[in-house]
Amino acid sequence: MVYLSPSQLQKFQEDGFLVLEGFLSADECVTMQERISEIVAKMDVPLHCRTEFSTQEEEQLKAQGSTDYFLSSGDKIRFFFEKGNFLVPPEKSINKIGHGLGQESWPPDARGGAEYVHLQVTPHQDASFLYTEPLGRVLGMWIALEDATLENGCLWFIPGSHTSGVSRRMVRAPAGSAPGTSFLGSEPARENSLFVPTPVRRGALVLIHGEVVHKSEQNLSDHSRQAYTFHLMEASGTVWSPENWLQPTAELPFPPLYT
Ligand code: FE2
Repeated sequence: MVYLSPSQLQKFQEDGFLVLEGFLSADECVTMQERISEIVAKMDVPLHCRTEFSTQEEEQLKAQGSTDYFLSSGDKIRFFFEKGNFLVPPEKSINKIGHGLGQESWPPDARGGAEYVHLQVTPHQDASFLYTEPLGRVLGMWIALEDATLENGCLWFIPGSHTSGVSRRMVRAPAGSAPGTSFLGSEPARENSLFVPTPVRRGALVLIHGEVVHKSEQNLSDHSRQAYTFHLMEASGTVWSPENWLQPTAELPFPPLYT
């Protein structure tokens, strides 16, 4: 069992994120990458379902044709691509594979929900997308399977921004309406200079407080930046919000951490 030291815990509480280098060995990263390659090799995505996962409101509203593919992704392995059409081979343009990876395809000791490759993500708080009633704590676990650098899309954070509340929520629209999701509230404009880059080496784990503002830039380099990420949600004393765009299913509920 790995514990945070008191100073690491304090740093996490102050900044809203914490880097733990060397969480996975290089061999463990390779094993995970090989598993992802197998999944990608077998992928078969209908043309109209080539949707991108976007945290940006306008983009989100545009993706209507693929809404069902997105909204029903909670218990399946689904593929989300970079914006635009395929200028590069599909396996190179994957933005995210989600959201049922943890349940179906990973060994039982590696549960989780998503895998990102060349992901550009606009500033956001994870608790805008994953929330309970009342709002319980959300913790993101982000593991670099390759070095994440300034050039290939490392994470950027606004340290301490996790204390000012959640600015918006992505909610599911009534069944059958288009678009299938909308936002309550809006993401305020953020001063670019407040963001601190967080390059990490392969195998590092980044802990992300559910309310800390973070982003990643587009990967314009020729080095991929694979990461495996999943979220832990506080279940005690809360219910999963029926408004949440992502819903567990009876066949495959969210796996409990403590049983
Ligand atoms: Fe995030």
